[in-house]
Amino acid sequence: MIFRNQASSIRKTKNISKDNLVKNYGLNSYEFTLKNNDEIFVCSKNKELDLIELDQLLQTVGWSRRPIRRVKRALEFSILVVGLWRYDDKFPRLVGFARCTGDGILEATVWDVAVNPVYQGLGLGKELMNYILKELKDIGISKVTLFADAEVVSFYKRQGWKLEPRGSKCAFWYAN
Ligand SMILES: CC(C)(COP(=O)(O)OP(=O)(O)OC[C@H]1O[C@@H](n2cnc3c(N)ncnc32)[C@H](O)[C@@H]1OP(=O)(O)O)[C@@H](O)C(=O)NCCC(=O)NCCS
Repeated sequence: MIFRNQASSIRKTKNISKDNLVKNYGLNSYEFTLKNNDEIFVCSKNKELDLIELDQLLQTVGWSRRPIRRVKRALEFSILVVGLWRYDDKFPRLVGFARCTGDGILEATVWDVAVNPVYQGLGLGKELMNYILKELKDIGISKVTLFADAEVVSFYKRQGWKLEPRGSKCAFWYAN
């Protein structure tokens, strides 16, 4: 388990008109471009997700498929659901995703952080996490946790997350 206590600052570009951004991606969306890359990306917690497209994205990172009906319910019960799109007026492409569960007041846990392998290593995962932490901070949540696979722990550590002292605090229970 990994803990994070504060959000980092975010960069912002002004490539899309504000009206267009709000119309296509909803309020509080965040657009940015990357060094050496002309494409525009947008993080949004308010743009509706196409659940089939989300399923396809999560398959690209090799995760086992979950029934779409159950995923839909899980998203409804999440306190924050964020998509990351490669910007296009007509055909935006979902290239990243993450969501948070929690009580909405004190604590949150981040789940399902994924960036399409074609777009990995460009800094999108970092921007996605920054966006999530800023949104959580804006609603007053200052303690955030997540469970990371061993091979991605350093992705989070680089961003300031602290590793739980191994085995001293974390417990799991599985139904089968
Ligand atoms: C983990 C993941 C979200 C990272 O997304 P990304 O867009 O490739 O990450 P970024 O390009 O923003 O990388 C940010 C930094 O983390 C490092 N990093 C990226 N992926 C890493 C990994 N798997 N392990 C260690 N470090 C990693 C980058 O080198 C970069 O370092 P820098 O800031 O010093 O340049 C993405 O690799 C992914 O979707 N993986 C498969 C799904 C997964 O395992 N999700 C995590 C579940 S806990």
